[in-house]
Amino acid sequence: MSPTNPRILLYGTAAIAEAAEVIRAGGCVAMPTETVYGLAADATDSRAVAGIYEAKGRPSFNPLIVHVPDLAAAERIALFDAVARDLATRFWPGPLTLVLPVRADAGIAALVTAGLDTIAIRVPDHRAMQALLAATGKPLAAPSANASGSISPTRAAHVAASLAGRIPLVIDDGPTSAGIESTIVMGRTILRPGPLSQADLFSDKGRSRGLQSEVPGDPALRPSPEHKPVAPGQLASHYAPGKLLRLDAAERHEGEWLIGFGDVAGDDTLSASGDLVEAAANLFDALHRADASSAPEIAVAPIPETGIGVAINDRLRRAAHPRS
Ligand code: TXA
Ligand code: MG
Repeated sequence: MSPTNPRILLYGTAAIAEAAEVIRAGGCVAMPTETVYGLAADATDSRAVAGIYEAKGRPSFNPLIVHVPDLAAAERIALFDAVARDLATRFWPGPLTLVLPVRADAGIAALVTAGLDTIAIRVPDHRAMQALLAATGKPLAAPSANASGSISPTRAAHVAASLAGRIPLVIDDGPTSAGIESTIVMGRTILRPGPLSQADLFSDKGRSRGLQSEVPGDPALRPSPEHKPVAPGQLASHYAPGKLLRLDAAERHEGEWLIGFGDVAGDDTLSASGDLVEAAANLFDALHRADASSAPEIAVAPIPETGIGVAINDRLRRAAHPRS
């Protein structure tokens, strides 16, 4: 094993204590869930969340799924309607993610939701992730624990191979049971297909009898053909400020709120020291502050197109050209 490989610890009290220590220190840890291994970090710590993106080498900021121990914890973060509460009651803990309005006082880092006013949240059905949630007392953001562009990991060895040299620790609790990512639902729409089908979630039989009594092949349980899943990108529009946004701005023009970086000082800065991870952590908060300022337009200093800077520039370009 090369020295750059992460440590792999078998699930147990000592492993969870060590993982919790990494999370408390603002780092990220690969953890099994019942779907795939996730790369977990404290969802209330924007620097820690930026670290997830850096480790994965994701070229863009997609909103992440937040994991919580139970429905009560979820209700402190998101606003549930009757449909959502019904689904949560029937399928949590389990491979179901609900997209819901985020509470303003939830304390979730804006980078988790990529600046959106909705949040994707789920209660995992796995002893290791549940133990880490209990040990940290924090909501945990966790995308699949693979480098950007590679397939989702269902074993600790997959994680170690994909993220060698990028993360400190993997908790190994064997292969995951579902093997594919959770079903994502917004309202009654499936945004991402997953282990729970349309019929599981919304048919009368799925509703009255739950999953356990599902009869394979029962036509009543097949998804209706007219209810096709939509790609997440179709509904999860990117956050964009309501004002004109100018990129690569070396100085402030009249009427602009300048978001600085490094040597370019502004009304605000993504990182005065030119630290790209800090800049990623501050990005969506800075855009929201700029939007709320009295200046009619926004400008942003040049951001280097390296490392996590690629993801920052991707989101800035989308914010500048929301329709493209
Ligand atoms: O099974 C899973 O869900 C795994 C395990 C680790 O829990 N996690 C996972 O997370 O797949 P991630 O971050 O790779 O998936 C996030 C998905 C993306 O497709 C994203 O677009 C969608 O959730 N998503 C997150 N927040 C959203 C929002 N506010 N609106 C719409 N879609 C959202
Ligand atoms: Mg993924």
